Amino acid sequence: MQKLVIEGGKPLFGEIITQGAKNAVLPVLAACVLCKGTVRLANCPCISDRYASARILTALGARVTTEGSSVSVCCDDADSPNIDSALMKSMRSSIIFMGALLGRYGKCTLSCPGGCNLGPRPIDMHIAAMKRMGAEITDEHGAISCNAPKGLTGCRHSLSFPSVGTTENIMLAAVCAEGETVISNAAREPEICCLADFLRACGAKISGDGSGRIVIEGVRELYPPKDPFEIIPDRIAAATWLSCAACAGGELLVRNCNPAHLEAVIPIFEQTGCRIRVFGTNIYIHRRERLTAPETIRTTVYPGFPTDAQAIIMAPLCTARGTSVFVENIFENRYRHTEAMRSMGADIRAEGKVAVVTGVPALHGTVAEAPDLRGGAALVCAALGAEGTSEIYGVNYIDRGYEDTERLLCSAGADVKRISE
Ligand code: EPZ
Repeated sequence: MQKLVIEGGKPLFGEIITQGAKNAVLPVLAACVLCKGTVRLANCPCISDRYASARILTALGARVTTEGSSVSVCCDDADSPNIDSALMKSMRSSIIFMGALLGRYGKCTLSCPGGCNLGPRPIDMHIAAMKRMGAEITDEHGAISCNAPKGLTGCRHSLSFPSVGTTENIMLAAVCAEGETVISNAAREPEICCLADFLRACGAKISGDGSGRIVIEGVRELYPPKDPFEIIPDRIAAATWLSCAACAGGELLVRNCNPAHLEAVIPIFEQTGCRIRVFGTNIYIHRRERLTAPETIRTTVYPGFPTDAQAIIMAPLCTARGTSVFVENIFENRYRHTEAMRSMGADIRAEGKVAVVTGVPALHGTVAEAPDLRGGAALVCAALGAEGTSEIYGVNYIDRGYEDTERLLCSAGADVKRISE
């Protein structure tokens, strides 16, 4: 059991380099199943979900070698289309292997994925899409068997919701399928474009990614990009570091990010009174005085305000002047962090989709458990600005999506220690 012990009240001064995107590297690692030869990836975040993906690839018979943020994957000797339930349960993104394994073998057996408890998180759209492409799928007490004896055939998908994972699964199933696939109402997140860029670098014929309508022409096989493929920066990690400064005060330079991916987030920080300067791949933030509540924050699909930043932006607003209103439109149960924030003195009432945060003058330290990945990150942000000491348990959640949390924050002047009990 590990905890982060955080001495609050210390303004940040310094810079933090943004890691590669968790939600981009995971589908790219799954896509390696479809590639002949050795794929080289760069800027992969050193986080536990990445290692979980590597364990799945190894279990499938692939050779995975890593050196820091560089990862090489060779699936030439891979021979298994099956993923055991323990590996499937290790994260949500394991479900993305369905499309890749069906694309390579025409069959696979897996089970329901894991991931943060944000509500039911069904996979009905994934299953329906694979069936439309010719897979016969049975689900017996959670064991999912997929079989496409004639291989997969491209078709038209019109998603009822622009699901990120479903869009990714269809892309992976379609790149080597027979004929053309069109995905209407596709997810438009930057991580979708990153996956499309990777697949194009491997010889896939994909267009329209980022537009909401993706067109894929199946090809016979994919081959490794000639140069190491670089994973995009993690926009949610960048937002997290901005929030740390908004909570703790001081000045922070968030480097190696893509500000264009944060066009719905940066204005919220500015509305609260933080001074923001964007130049190149850097975002500078300076928080001088007490923040002010921004307009209502409604989470939605990209390019709107991301659900993954909801808890993170709530942290600094707990002590803002005025009342902040949140509407969580993506997940059914994504206010689990509010209980811990209330234990720090926050005044938050959450019911259904809506959370109302009435700013208090200051938060105080607490002992709390991270409820999920982004909720845990939000508690770290809040603890940095709180008076006194906080102990945040459930660091395993935070490690799923953030590399080097305590080292990065201490390099910017925070007092954060990881204690193993
Ligand atoms: C991805 O999850 C991200 N995870 C999530 O990030 C992110 O919050 C989410 O997209 C939305 O942007 C990864 O990329 C690994 P969805 P995913 O399919 O693919 C419902 C983080 O903290 N739905 O777009 O699971 C679903 O229940 C994580 O980094 C169905 O009903 O998200 C949810 O309400 C958390 N049936 C909504 O759609 C389905 O078959 C959005 O899900 C699929 C989804």
